[in-house]
Amino acid sequence: MIKIAPSILSADFARLGDAVQMLERSGADWVHFDVMDGHFVPNLTFGSTMCKALRPLTRLPLDVHLMVDRPQDYIQPFCKAGADKLSFHIEAVNDPLPLLKQIQEAGMSPGLVLKPETPVSACEPYLPYCDLVLLMSVNPGFGGQSFIPETLDKIRELNERKHALNLNFEIQVDGGINVDTAAACRQAGVTVLVAGSAVFKAVNPAEMITKLRG
Ligand code: DX5
Ligand code: ZN
Repeated sequence: MIKIAPSILSADFARLGDAVQMLERSGADWVHFDVMDGHFVPNLTFGSTMCKALRPLTRLPLDVHLMVDRPQDYIQPFCKAGADKLSFHIEAVNDPLPLLKQIQEAGMSPGLVLKPETPVSACEPYLPYCDLVLLMSVNPGFGGQSFIPETLDKIRELNERKHALNLNFEIQVDGGINVDTAAACRQAGVTVLVAGSAVFKAVNPAEMITKLRG
């Protein structure tokens, strides 16, 4: 079954604890944390101390999406804060392999993230070391943008590579997910959908999560 990872970037930052508990009650599978450093992307959000503060409030896996320069500096802090999954951008590093291994050794699930303009071929050598590959379907930095339709071809291509190589990583898509784009992504072979505004702006978040799952 498709997993839904709502992004707390779209929650009320004055009530993040309530938001995380609401997500668990509403049937979310993971909680997605968008960590932005104001350098890699032109926006600044929160770091590992926020993750540490929210960790005791839910049993859901905490899925951290680093949009930062020097992701290597964030592995130990997020490990200590109780993150379950840690993904970083391939564009932020020269060689992703040592970082993927360090994240794994720290006991977290490693993930690699590709911006919309980065081709799937860029991550191919690293696929055996990834528990998840995140394809951005908007330019990273802000919630509430429109889904870039070319992402669907990238999902299909990545899914083909996954099967050809007999690998088991999750294919995650992030940005502009609503009921319509979710259906298209599911058909293309996605396994985890991130959704910010769709879930937090919904009158009934639980119903929206069920609809996105299809
Ligand atoms: C964008 C973030 C996304 C964003 C998704 O940089 O990585 O997770 O919060 O928000 P929506 O679903 O509103 O596009
Ligand atoms: Zn994200």
